[in-house]
Amino acid sequence: MFQAFKINSSKDAAKKKVEFYAENEIALISENNDDDLLKSLRKLFEKEFKKNNYPQDLYMDKFKSKEFYELIYSKILNSKELKEFFSELSDKYQCGPISIFPCKFMRNYFPNTYGNTSTFHSDAQGQHKFKYCERSLSNKKNIMGKLVINLQKNSKYGGGIDILPFSYKKNMDGTWQPSISKFNFNFKRLKVLWILYRLLIKFNLGNIEIPFTNTILLNLFSRIAGAKTVKLKALSTLVFGQRIFHRGTPVDPLIFRELIKENDEISFKKGIPANIDMGENNKFMIYFWYGSQEGLNSYIHLLNNDKREARNSDQIKDGWTFEFKNNPIYKDYFKESENMFNEAINRIQKK
Ligand SMILES: [Fe+2]
Repeated sequence: MFQAFKINSSKDAAKKKVEFYAENEIALISENNDDDLLKSLRKLFEKEFKKNNYPQDLYMDKFKSKEFYELIYSKILNSKELKEFFSELSDKYQCGPISIFPCKFMRNYFPNTYGNTSTFHSDAQGQHKFKYCERSLSNKKNIMGKLVINLQKNSKYGGGIDILPFSYKKNMDGTWQPSISKFNFNFKRLKVLWILYRLLIKFNLGNIEIPFTNTILLNLFSRIAGAKTVKLKALSTLVFGQRIFHRGTPVDPLIFRELIKENDEISFKKGIPANIDMGENNKFMIYFWYGSQEGLNSYIHLLNNDKREARNSDQIKDGWTFEFKNNPIYKDYFKESENMFNEAINRIQKK
């Protein structure tokens, strides 16, 4: 839908990837062309979601396939590329070890661009409410973001992410972000377009078929503002930091219209239900968190203090504890993760 974002090559040296990341808050780490691996992972993924009655997302502690985790570790995470990237990144920002943490699996989750809410967001948005987090976010040692493995390429059926590249600028310290709209021209432009878009929706544009119009308008506005889509092959490992604005790539409007014709459960209003089966077009995403101690402290501070997250926060902490004890990824390989988590929890308890 949008133009492709020019991402670094997975073949770049770690140092170059870190430079790219420092400038763009996103980097491609590695690729894997193993079709059999892709088939096995997709099969195991579908099986776990079936067992859980096809939720939209599944936290990692609820996804019990040891076989899946062993494959993910041995074929993807255990790569020279990822290790070297984390180690270079840690050197650059002097932030201590960077490790990965449990997050979730998502199946057929598409943003509802047909509704009238913006789907672009930054994963650090919630943290700006808290002084501690705000200070932490402006600290260069605060590294935190999502490591994504996509089990399909990003196509007209979605399958990847779109980003607003201008929402992250090199050499600006973290204090820029809360007030981004004050001096970032592109961001300002997006904001104005957004207000206009909401007004057009509100006054209904003379009863044009609104949901479809919404998409076209939204895409047009995002396009003018400079949104880009991140084109990746299936089984790519991508990292994007919590500061960059992004959304899941929606299904192309024309494809979406076809899907509506084929399937009663899909509509502009409801979007694509999580339990839908689109066969080989099913969208499977694997999300880990990655981060430094500083980044993790700030995230755990959010979990502990945000009332909206409160219902979730104990579940998330229990889930992580379970994972560190049971999942080979942390038990045997990324052993640093549990220590870093305990340190973040201790910091909260000392206060
Ligand atoms: Fe996000």
